[in-house]
Amino acid sequence: MKHGPIVRLGPSEISINCYEGGLRTVYTGGYEKHEWYPRLFGSFGTISMFSMVGTKQHSIRKRMLANVYSKSYLQGSSQLKAVTRTILFDRIFPILKDYASSESSVEVHELNNALALDFITGYIFGVPAGSNFLQEPSLRQKWLSIYHSRKIFEFYIQETPTLLSLSEALGIPLIPKWCTTANEYMENWGLEACDKADENISSTDPMTEPVVYRQLKQALEKHLIATSDSEPSEKDLAQLRLEVACETFDHLTAGHETSALTLTYLFWELSKNPELQDQLRRELRTLSPNVVPPTSGASPKLPSHKSIDALPLLDAVIMETLRVHPPIPGIQPRLTPADASLAGYHNIPPNTRVNAQAYSLHKNDDVFPNPDSWLPNRWIAPPGSSEIDEMKHWFWAFGSGGRMCIGSHFALQEIKLVVAALYTSFTTSVVDDQGMEPIDAYTTRPTSNKLVLKFGLA
Ligand code: HEM
Repeated sequence: MKHGPIVRLGPSEISINCYEGGLRTVYTGGYEKHEWYPRLFGSFGTISMFSMVGTKQHSIRKRMLANVYSKSYLQGSSQLKAVTRTILFDRIFPILKDYASSESSVEVHELNNALALDFITGYIFGVPAGSNFLQEPSLRQKWLSIYHSRKIFEFYIQETPTLLSLSEALGIPLIPKWCTTANEYMENWGLEACDKADENISSTDPMTEPVVYRQLKQALEKHLIATSDSEPSEKDLAQLRLEVACETFDHLTAGHETSALTLTYLFWELSKNPELQDQLRRELRTLSPNVVPPTSGASPKLPSHKSIDALPLLDAVIMETLRVHPPIPGIQPRLTPADASLAGYHNIPPNTRVNAQAYSLHKNDDVFPNPDSWLPNRWIAPPGSSEIDEMKHWFWAFGSGGRMCIGSHFALQEIKLVVAALYTSFTTSVVDDQGMEPIDAYTTRPTSNKLVLKFGLA
């Protein structure tokens, strides 16, 4: 705000905070990802689509997977329908009913992580090979605590690789040994899920079909055969197993933390805002059928995705939550090519690190008046309104361009259904919201890592 839309942060690092001459230029081509990504986000000794730096390698991988995450595929997917029905009707409704009838105080952020993990792993691996963290609290607590224990060291991996190597060479490593054990636990868990999914690779039962796993494995096998002169060796196949494990593990990590954070902040905002909660409930009750707990004997049904997408307040509440509380508020670093010009500055040297961040873009008060306030109605305007178009240019929760989030439609579909399931029949109010301010990180979370709510019957 003080220094304008382009700021030099260091000898070879700049930050941009504008659409024209900024986002539009950097993120739509020619500016490749910085090695910052593979430094942190590699696993299984390899890298995923998310952390690939080169354009060619990345676009081959993205083409393999784009279809199974496209909106039309997801909305027509009998497999995702089976996952959704299992999670909503068998797992989450009994939990919500229990919370509402006991009127006890409930910590929801852990629950949202479990919910998001069950959703994404159910779709990637099929329900039997995916997680059931909603119904297994002690397992999810163990998993989440190991997963998060490593986070405090991310900064060193991303920003100080030389210091890291030096500290290791001197025998005083900045990253403790137990992190290796934590990484091994996560990788073994991911590999086990892949191996279980592999047993069901030929399944045609929508509940069991491992949609993403199968799509990726088959596409990688085809690519391997097409690019080598001989039959794939044992070594090639072992490497392929790790490539699939790395990619799918990345999807389940990218997919659960972000969706869980959106749900937590959305529940928080609605819990502070009972009138808007009522207004949303009235809108949700126009769906046919309603997203409500199943009555005994009846086979529960879900409304069409088209009718859910047509609800303006539901959409606005989610957009505004993603704007005010972007799950990835941190920098998305790229490298300048030769002859770069940005925000009116020319001849910017090649290989300069350039970043934008949703955190700052979403605070532009020319585009989002009163930017720190959560005001969903700002997203409800007559179609074609120029203010909405401008807000959409600056809305950056999912990034933009060729490296934009591949899971955005999956996340939005999942979040809409969960919000409909909760707020059609239940109410929430705040019990303890200390520490909701986000930590300063690439993927954030509330400082307290918790939100305590009370549930009631609407
Ligand atoms: C509310 C939920 C989500 C948010 C806010 C979100 C946000 C983002 C953002 C900002 C990026 C770009 C990051 C960068 O370039 O530094 C990204 C990329 C990505 N996201 Fe998401 N994401 C969400 C859900 C998901 C889900 C459900 C998946 C599951 C597949 C997923 C998988 C990915 C992958 C694989 C990439 C890398 C895409 C590429 O490099 O081409 N995300 N996401």
